[in-house]
Amino acid sequence: MKKIIVFGSGNGSNFQSIVEYFKNKDVEFVCVSNKQDAFILQRAKLLGIKHFYVPYADTYKFLEDQICDLVILAGYMRILPANVLKLHTFINIHPSLLPAYKGKDAIKRAFDAKENLTGVSVHYVNEEVDSGEIIVQQSLEIRREESLLELESRIHNIEHYIYPRVIDRVLFNSQVAI
Ligand code: GRF
Repeated sequence: MKKIIVFGSGNGSNFQSIVEYFKNKDVEFVCVSNKQDAFILQRAKLLGIKHFYVPYADTYKFLEDQICDLVILAGYMRILPANVLKLHTFINIHPSLLPAYKGKDAIKRAFDAKENLTGVSVHYVNEEVDSGEIIVQQSLEIRREESLLELESRIHNIEHYIYPRVIDRVLFNSQVAI
């Protein structure tokens, strides 16, 4: 049995796609949010997954007592310090072709800059925003005629496809296709 702790601050659509992908595998989930009213906690409740509101300041205290194989950040909007990152292996997903467009509003910034290409990056987490070692990236072309909403939706679809599969590779050392 593997155990994954998922941290998020908002919607939780990546969290849900990960849980659904692993539903017939031997993986236990715990969901954590630094926002008491985050929808990710509602999703966890509906999915029957243990969930906790953990204020940012209590993150170390919470994680030092946990035994787990991976910590997954999925829309977690805080930067974790070195002492926390030393406790476990952390992975994040970011909606750009890193190192381009680190930080907030990455999709909109790439769209507004009229980039031809953007994408999704899954990476290990270090102390700097969206800067850890990249595990997998997938690019997509920004279509001249599409709206920001359409681009966001296409990026989220890629995220929902690749994040569970990258986790599968890391967790089980598998060669699952991406
Ligand atoms: C995703 O776009 C992810 O790349 C970024 O935050 C967003 C989270 O979305 N880090 P959700 O909460 O998983 O729906």
